[in-house]
Amino acid sequence: MQKQWHLKSRPKLEPSLDNFELVHAPIPKLESGKALVKVLYLGVAPVMLRYMRNETDFEQTLEIGDLMPGRGVGQVIASGCKDLPVGAFVQARLGWQEYALIDGNQNPRPFVLEHTDLPLSHGISTLALSGFTSLVGLREIGLVKPDDRVLVSGAAGGVGSQVAMIAKALGVKKITGIAGGPRKCQIMTDVLGYDQALDYKTDNLSTQIDEAFPEGIDVFFDNVGGALLDTVLARLRRRARIVICGGISEYLLPPEQKHKFAHIQNLGRQDAKMEAFFIYDYQSHFSSYAEELADWIRAGLIRPLEDISQGIETLPQALIDLYAGQNQGVRMARVGVPE
Ligand SMILES: NC(=O)c1ccc[n+]([C@@H]2O[C@H](COP(=O)([O-])OP(=O)(O)OC[C@H]3O[C@@H](n4cnc5c(N)ncnc54)[C@H](OP(=O)(O)O)[C@@H]3O)[C@@H](O)[C@H]2O)c1
Repeated sequence: MQKQWHLKSRPKLEPSLDNFELVHAPIPKLESGKALVKVLYLGVAPVMLRYMRNETDFEQTLEIGDLMPGRGVGQVIASGCKDLPVGAFVQARLGWQEYALIDGNQNPRPFVLEHTDLPLSHGISTLALSGFTSLVGLREIGLVKPDDRVLVSGAAGGVGSQVAMIAKALGVKKITGIAGGPRKCQIMTDVLGYDQALDYKTDNLSTQIDEAFPEGIDVFFDNVGGALLDTVLARLRRRARIVICGGISEYLLPPEQKHKFAHIQNLGRQDAKMEAFFIYDYQSHFSSYAEELADWIRAGLIRPLEDISQGIETLPQALIDLYAGQNQGVRMARVGVPE
């Protein structure tokens, strides 16, 4: 038998422990074309709350009693699929459970981790979606150049904790991050490669941004959205680029409470662009992104900050903590050890 987390009820606002139920279920039997995977790490991400509320059209509809969806790293322990051989470490949609039966052709496709000289947990952080998201946001959407004045929100979170180091690896000279509280601000400058850290939980964020960017902002990598995005829209340089990565400040709000933008016209005034992206649209490049990022880790240019809780039991709290700002870096749970 194995442990699994099922959806017990839908969160109205932020998730709480009573939305989840821990159940015991049989370990699945191998089927042709599939691989049986022992789960080692499972990541948590803000978007999971939206899956629980059936708010995205990407994830299949989640019914009460269903297995919680989620990506993780696991080891193939039996295989009927030539692309997923026994012993391989894979990154895939595994679900919140200790053993998963995965289909080599499922969409999004599982991928074999190639850089196993590095810690397997990096297969949740830099060598997987959050690292790829930072890279694509900066390079493909933000089109960053060395002299750009770059600002990042959610800068101590999973994606944000990697943006400064990746930006520096891409040649950016100076980068400023925004996060909540003095402890996170200190980590941003001491550990995460930011030159400057601004605390949005003080009441003078606009003044802090004005002092940090007297000539305005060229690139804004936004994980937060809402009023903060509007504050930045008022401070754009010519041909600025706004990267809409996420908008966690608004995920819990009903439509009528979402921010009404006052400075959107500034995009036109400054010949700027604002563009969102979805990391799965870049799936065909994942292997080359992993190669580049692994090289930068080996060269010491990226030091992934991972916030790892121990045991499958910790997953609901790990997700709740994201919305309470408790995580530093990429949140994940360690669920098992390799065979
Ligand atoms: N475009 C894509 O394909 C893609 C892919 C992956 C992720 N994303 C998005 O990227 C963003 C970052 O994802 P992640 O996985 O790295 O999560 P994350 O940044 O680790 O999310 C948790 C952090 O969000 C901050 N936060 C929570 N509530 C907030 C609020 N009301 N206002 C401001 N900050 C708040 C907290 O930091 P503080 O303590 O600083 O408040 C918390 O530590 C999310 O919006 C996510 O949906 C997009």
